[in-house]
Amino acid sequence: MAKSKTKTIYTCQNCGAQRPKWEGKCTDCGAWNSYVEELQMPEVKTRGWSTGSPEKGSGSVKPISLDQSLEEVQLDRFETGFEELNRVLGGGLAKGSFVLLGGSPGIGKSTLLLQMAGGLAKNKHKVLYISGEESVSQTGSRAHRLGIRSPLIEIGCESNLHSIMELARFKKPQVLVVDSIQTMYLPDLQAAPGSVSQVRECAGHLMGLAKQEGITVILIGHVTKDGTIAGPKVLEHMVDCVLSFDGDASYNFRLLRALKNRFGAAHELGVFQMNSKGLEEVANPSELFLEERGDQLIGSAVFASMEGTRPLLCEVQALTLSSPMAMPRRTALGIDVNRLHLLTAVLDRHLDIRLATNDIFINVVGGLKLVEPAADLAVAAAILSTQSHRDLDAKTCFFGEIGLTGEVRGVSFVENRIREGDKLGFQHFVIPYSNKRHLAELKLSKDKKISFIRNIKDLSKII
Ligand code: TYD
Ligand code: MG
Repeated sequence: MAKSKTKTIYTCQNCGAQRPKWEGKCTDCGAWNSYVEELQMPEVKTRGWSTGSPEKGSGSVKPISLDQSLEEVQLDRFETGFEELNRVLGGGLAKGSFVLLGGSPGIGKSTLLLQMAGGLAKNKHKVLYISGEESVSQTGSRAHRLGIRSPLIEIGCESNLHSIMELARFKKPQVLVVDSIQTMYLPDLQAAPGSVSQVRECAGHLMGLAKQEGITVILIGHVTKDGTIAGPKVLEHMVDCVLSFDGDASYNFRLLRALKNRFGAAHELGVFQMNSKGLEEVANPSELFLEERGDQLIGSAVFASMEGTRPLLCEVQALTLSSPMAMPRRTALGIDVNRLHLLTAVLDRHLDIRLATNDIFINVVGGLKLVEPAADLAVAAAILSTQSHRDLDAKTCFFGEIGLTGEVRGVSFVENRIREGDKLGFQHFVIPYSNKRHLAELKLSKDKKISFIRNIKDLSKII
């Protein structure tokens, strides 16, 4: 009997590795049960944005030298209509860039990009919005409800990538939005839409479109249960910019973050609020995060954090109580639990306050996640306050890193943090001693006070 010619191959849905046989654990990335059987695809002729065969002799690649005038190498940027989005992107949407927006379902990705399309159209930019998830009438009626009406925005419903590429080359929009890369497919590949091969090849073609035609392409990407953008890591390597859109289900505000940005600072944060008229930007998020601060201030400290280039004030709450268990509980929402273990050990050792037999709970209000070690001082202040049942002054703000010997270490952007606190009416700032020399030029009004502390014993005296 003649053997069948079609060959199957197994592809890891996590990293894109391929094997002739199924494996339970991927030997490349370590993911379990991630191999899926796919039919082997024919050799793809062009990948990524190869410009094809070079002409004889000269070649089609045209490098430019860096001593040319800056205008020739400078990036054009589009104004998106959202100040927050512009800032997260590093000063507007760069022309010809390739951007990925990730987020969990229903968080507002489509809404954000529709409203962005509206903003771009106001600035006379042409946008093509292709949805593979919703029909034209669904997207259109949503756009109308959001008050977006413009001849410069065109909406299409399609998931065959070849048709989309053709349409984009014909329409030549300045910005192309592809609503969910996981619904797109290339008919020449046997794999299902959303599989690693499809996602990788589709993204490669779209990258070609962005770089060759100078069309800015924005992809929407779904996020898996564990919070990574579904599809392979290769997608994140390919794009210029990875934005993540998240928020807590119980709050109506949404946080937009740049996880990677080739055209600006990463870790910039933008804050939006979702209401009946769609997304609205929050110009002063510190106010929002401190809005519901109660009068009961035992165990609540305010931390002046830096999110990218912007200072942001937020509330850290702590609760300690004697534990019925042999292994007391340490729960941290919004900070790393290992950091909490470390702080507890330092406080216990240097202040002799018997935290070892207590359950400790830490919560950062508003679903914010703090990664800066500068949050240590605020966490320690909240723990000391709840442990000793003493009120913390409502108008005091903390920042500083705590070391293992109990010393308080300096942090960066001191002036920005203090100015933000000053703006919001904070009167007292407890900060590291070593930051004193960075504040020579800071002028605060008479009633404001800065306490410089060297170690956590100083902190306990203040509390
Ligand atoms: P959507 O943009 O469809 O989310 P995604 O594309 O990320 O899946 O947003 C859907 C949610 O947003 C939905 O739960 C309702 C809410 N929403 C509002 O609250 N107000 C609005 O004006 C709009 C358009 C949506
Ligand atoms: Mg959507």
